[in-house]
Amino acid sequence: MATNRTFTMIKPDAFGAGNTGAILEMIESAGFRIIALKATRLSPELAGQFYQVHKERPFYADLCQYMSSGPIVAAILEKSNAVADFRSLIGATNPENAAEGTIRKRFATSLEANAIHGSDSDENALIESNFFFSAFDQIG
Ligand code: TYD
Repeated sequence: MATNRTFTMIKPDAFGAGNTGAILEMIESAGFRIIALKATRLSPELAGQFYQVHKERPFYADLCQYMSSGPIVAAILEKSNAVADFRSLIGATNPENAAEGTIRKRFATSLEANAIHGSDSDENALIESNFFFSAFDQIG
């Protein structure tokens, strides 16, 4: 059953370029409600844990280095059909393939520095939300 929550991270490239506000505006304008929000940093070890599903992939080491290269913003978002609708809003992993009007089309600078993360399943949305936030951090 689809749940109504997803998890996102504004990645170091987008945060560093000062695009956090514009991205949050696109997210809220698309109908998502912010349930939890924080600016934080990932160590290389934490980035490795977050992306452990990719640990055998050739891009894993670079990805962990990149994700720990600067601050990020983590958030839990609520909307009906949240996971799928948010994946549509952010666009394809490679910004060269991202549709017009998507967050990655507008803000991503490369396949690695692609501005934003969005959970790919309800199960991962919950795991990723709990990675960053306690129950106390989340509004109802
Ligand atoms: P992935 O989970 O496949 O994409 P998405 O973020 O769209 O769910 O990959 C995780 C991140 O890894 C992706 O956002 C960017 C990075 N990445 C690379 O650097 N090189 C690659 O070849 C791929 C597939 C991903």
